[in-house]
Amino acid sequence: MLFLPKTKHSVKLFIPIFTEIYIPMKIIIINGPNLNLLGKREPEVYGNISFDTFYDQLKKSYPNITLSYFQSNIEGELIDKIQEVGFTYDGIILNAAAYTHTSVGIGDAVKAISTPVIEVHISNTFSRETFRHQSFISPNANGIIIGFGLKSYELALQSFI
Ligand code: DQA
Repeated sequence: MLFLPKTKHSVKLFIPIFTEIYIPMKIIIINGPNLNLLGKREPEVYGNISFDTFYDQLKKSYPNITLSYFQSNIEGELIDKIQEVGFTYDGIILNAAAYTHTSVGIGDAVKAISTPVIEVHISNTFSRETFRHQSFISPNANGIIIGFGLKSYELALQSFI
């Protein structure tokens, strides 16, 4: 087909174009307190790989997903992030760490949003101290993955695909 430049003799045509476009899923990993110390912190429980190293590998393995990462040691910042992404993202992978067991506020934030949330834990919290058996996230999470080491995050990611 030949397209001619606009001249005073040409007419304007509107040509509807039907096509398919694919928008990558937007998934965020949100990590709570002390998870910035992964690799250094209690390696016998949490392993010796830093989260940054693991996250870089994960991003490379899933190039078709728009993956992002947020970590904070501050409860309110975690709630702000859950609210910020919780109506537009396709999924949240949440390890609220110690706040899992204490934070009504984070539990309420998970309940308030429409984005599905998968709660993850690196360690098997049920084989540890009894205070770790309680979760304010679980009742409002769409799924829970516990005890597979850093692989827990990847399993959660796969649950969205
Ligand atoms: C954790 C388990 C929590 O009990 C603990 O406070 C953490 C990490 C986990 O991923 O195994 O900080 O969420």
